[in-house]
Amino acid sequence: MLTVRAPATSANLGSGFDVFGAALERPADVVRLRKADRTTISVTGVGSQYIPEDPEKNTVGAVAEALDAPARIEIDKGVRPASGLGSSAASAAAAAVGLNELYGRGLTREELVPIAAKGEAVVSGAAHADNVAPSIVGGFTIARSDGVTAIDASIPLVACLPEIVVSTRDARGVVPERARMEEIVEVVGSAATLAVGMARNDPELVGRGMEDDVVTPARAKLISGYDAVRTAAFDAGAAGVTISGAGPAVLAACSGDDRRAVASAMLDAFDGVGVEARAYQTRIGGGTAVFE
Ligand code: HSE
Repeated sequence: MLTVRAPATSANLGSGFDVFGAALERPADVVRLRKADRTTISVTGVGSQYIPEDPEKNTVGAVAEALDAPARIEIDKGVRPASGLGSSAASAAAAAVGLNELYGRGLTREELVPIAAKGEAVVSGAAHADNVAPSIVGGFTIARSDGVTAIDASIPLVACLPEIVVSTRDARGVVPERARMEEIVEVVGSAATLAVGMARNDPELVGRGMEDDVVTPARAKLISGYDAVRTAAFDAGAAGVTISGAGPAVLAACSGDDRRAVASAMLDAFDGVGVEARAYQTRIGGGTAVFE
């Protein structure tokens, strides 16, 4: 039997829609795997009542199928589903890394990314790799169709998760089909700034590089209080604020010791619009870890 821990992730980071992602030190899913004749799945933990245990409908079922690695899979959810924190990706990443190990398939972490992304297609309809890549590899990742580039950054972050649910399918439904050239120029500038910020481990640059006027404003309408939370986080010292993944979590990049103040300001702002929330004071961390 193997026990595997796969971290939550924050995708997009504003300017890198479907491309950028970062592994979070916490929260995480813990998955136990044992070889079996056919795949069976059980789910416990946060939001487990909303997750199907049928292998045809669960993200890890698709991963077991793709690796031809049937197993008894026990998922202990630490990452709430429909949170914007890569919940399905964490389970898919854990299954991909764990089953590869259990069955001695010998694939590299990078080779496991497209396999775990097949699990994402089960829940969101699109096999984007921007959550599974950082969950498997760790750090900040740039996921493209030709592979993954990873940087080992360690930026302090706050991920503030409100008690509202936004499905990835709905959030993808509001993404504009087209952008104007001026908007594309701005987003390219932001994305480049963010990538350099990650390479330099510079929270100020990362924060400035989160700016995005194409996808984020359309999705902000799905999150009650988003504008107030964003303003509150900046006022408390955040270097940058954006929607985490498809939302509703809101992500703030912080400069250092201001995480506690930023977290508190974001919680107060959600409270001000009558929305309960919890805040994770975290940072960019490592990828999936395997324990015997
Ligand atoms: N890049 C994806 C999105 C991440 O924003 O829709 C969510 O799974």
